Amino acid sequence: MNNHTSSLETSHFPVMLKEVLKIVSPFNGGKYIDCTFGAGGYSREILKIPNTNITAIDRDNHIKSLADELEKKFPKRFRFYQIKFSQLDTVSSEDVDAIIFDLGLSSIQLNNLNRGFSFKSDKRLNMEMGLNKASALDAINNLSEIDLKSVIKFLGDEKEASKIAKNIVKSRNDKKITKTSDLVKIIEKSKKKNFSKKINPCTKTFQALRIFVNKEISELINGVIKATKRLKPGGKILVVTFHSIEDKIVKYFFNNFSKNRSRPSRYFPENKIEEITLFEEYRNKVLRPTKREIDLNNRSRSAKLRYATRSKSEFKYPQKLIDKFKNYLDLESVNV
Ligand SMILES: C[S@@+](CC[C@H](N)C(=O)[O-])C[C@H]1O[C@@H](n2cnc3c(N)ncnc32)[C@H](O)[C@@H]1O
Repeated sequence: MNNHTSSLETSHFPVMLKEVLKIVSPFNGGKYIDCTFGAGGYSREILKIPNTNITAIDRDNHIKSLADELEKKFPKRFRFYQIKFSQLDTVSSEDVDAIIFDLGLSSIQLNNLNRGFSFKSDKRLNMEMGLNKASALDAINNLSEIDLKSVIKFLGDEKEASKIAKNIVKSRNDKKITKTSDLVKIIEKSKKKNFSKKINPCTKTFQALRIFVNKEISELINGVIKATKRLKPGGKILVVTFHSIEDKIVKYFFNNFSKNRSRPSRYFPENKIEEITLFEEYRNKVLRPTKREIDLNNRSRSAKLRYATRSKSEFKYPQKLIDKFKNYLDLESVNV
């Protein structure tokens, strides 16, 4: 391993690794998909066990050297693809034992200030994870005020979205907004009186832009649907989320397509709803990192892990999931 790859690898702690391994349970071998390879934390642990086979995916080509190294070491058991996980059907086979999603950014991405994810840097506004159509710079300078407001409000849960969007447009009419520090100044000006001590005033707007630029909601919804189709009966789908929209989607999916899903009302005629069962009974259990893990890795503090077990029922497309979150999908599909 050269110095570059080893420093990439050690800069990221795999979140809830012990809990993930316990659920995936790869101890007798099997076929797995790591949809968010990152620094390869999960893949590397699973590969330690003989007869395991991993298809790994990441949209980011900055981690290619780590993946290359594993491909060299395990040529028959490890394959990496630089694609988005919404395209996982193009690379994986069926009958997979477990599929893992560990959403959001890796420390490799966050720590590279040139990529413009952090409001603590003074770099070009970018925020692209990889394979993007547009950057944060394009979004900030080209979206209409109304679309900017919706992105910041709905993807960032930012109460002052209106003022921030207005000030972005005002500022870009004078001069193109190109740097993270330009955006920071605009947000701070817009939120002057409402600084909360707990959370940086820029957190929500930056999160909203990152989600929009990377189409993270559409990716998640299409990714979990395609993953479910690839699982064998009894196979597990695991998702580690880091903010409330992601968790809401995963919870809804597992809850509403499981054997024990709740009916809207007992008076609702059963034959009027198309009941699709994709998962065994889902107990709505969410796992959180231990205090010890949070002390060791502060980034894990907002992690939530949910998982479901594929039932024997034939796969049917869960259109209800798309319909339920259509507003987010429409918002992400606005042209820049
Ligand atoms: C939190 S990191 C994963 C860390 C990894 N579990 C580990 O232990 O090293 C998330 C990774 O998922 C990737 N990613 C996020 N969304 C993706 C998508 N839609 N398709 C493919 N990769 C994605 C990011 O580029 C990032 O490298």
